[in-house]
Amino acid sequence: MNEGKIFLSPPHMGGTEQHYVNGAFKTNWIAPLGANVDSFEQKMKHYTKAEHVLALNSGTAAIHLALLTLGVTRGDTVFCSTLTFAASANPIVYVGAEPVFIDSDEKSWNMCPIALGNAMEYAAQRNRLPKAVIVVHLLGLVADLDTIQSICDKYDVPLIEDAAESLGSTYKNQMTGTLGEMGIYSFNGNKIITTSGGGMLLSKKETTRKKAFKLATQAKEQAMFYLHKKIGYNYRLSNVLAGIGMGQMEVLDSHIAKRQAIFKRYETAFSEIDGVSMMPVLAQTVPNCWLSAIRLDFEKIALSTMEIVQRMEAVGVEVRMMWNPLHLQPSFAGAECYQAHEQNVSEQLFQEVLCLPSGSSMSESQQAYVIKELLAQLLANKVDREN
Ligand SMILES: Cc1ncc(COP(=O)(O)O)c(C=O)c1O
Repeated sequence: MNEGKIFLSPPHMGGTEQHYVNGAFKTNWIAPLGANVDSFEQKMKHYTKAEHVLALNSGTAAIHLALLTLGVTRGDTVFCSTLTFAASANPIVYVGAEPVFIDSDEKSWNMCPIALGNAMEYAAQRNRLPKAVIVVHLLGLVADLDTIQSICDKYDVPLIEDAAESLGSTYKNQMTGTLGEMGIYSFNGNKIITTSGGGMLLSKKETTRKKAFKLATQAKEQAMFYLHKKIGYNYRLSNVLAGIGMGQMEVLDSHIAKRQAIFKRYETAFSEIDGVSMMPVLAQTVPNCWLSAIRLDFEKIALSTMEIVQRMEAVGVEVRMMWNPLHLQPSFAGAECYQAHEQNVSEQLFQEVLCLPSGSSMSESQQAYVIKELLAQLLANKVDREN
């Protein structure tokens, strides 16, 4: 029976958000900054052990500021994972630079270190090294950070971690977003915690935070009158929305635990189904399981991911195809994509991967319904079925 539409990753309030939002109202501290923003930054700093953090009004703004603080500009190139949401790479174009995409690795579904190494070597030969590398931790899965970082170190190129989806995921016990020179989080409505809209920039250097702070506040100079030496942006998080973030921080760990339990239940349910495999988890990493995803083998299952999305929609369940790789997007037409194998891995993943409902508010009975409906589709379309 359909228990009402089951969404992929809806917002999930913990209960105390309103209290912090009311605090902003009571003190008449509605806009723009204030105590909630300061406290939210402190909480996030403590939680992630990041050296410096800056609360912003979106994850996209955080990537934009990361590039600006590195001085990325017209004529530069920036390497970026190709299998991701467009927001990872759009800011490269905002600053007038050119994105160069890097294929995925079968082992992590994230940036392939071999393809990255090849791209760097080729760029070094042409004296066209990128100004930055943006590595994405897709779905909360963690990229092969040590290898990627060592390639960046070899060529002295700064690494930005797009951890929009991976708040709370760890690599060798350290939080994603804190390992590269800079990192970003998103608190968009579908993320593991939300401020309805918001983001954060994390940096190793205090000077980076200072530069980003200035750019995020219209590049106002400290003067008795309005003085701007640079073009700035209006990118800070509002004190009202930071109140939602304060409440959400109280439930972040339990949201992660719930999503990890959801992943385990899918894993158990699909373990016996030939032709279905779970998303990969690299050794020494712990994903937050923001989204659980399965990969289909079309030699064993004769149903495209697009057909499954439509059929599940008909029974009230939102499942999604994997991101369409950015090098295939018309908006990035002409951009190069480096791959280590003859077959582009991200293109295969786009065809073969399905993201399943993973919200921390999903009940066990709702998940059982998702599994039942999905199994019905998969088993009815097994290539080796006997009929
Ligand atoms: C991988 C990735 N990068 C960047 C973003 C941008 O974040 P925001 O929506 O907060 O701008 C998102 C999500 O929306 C994302 O999933």
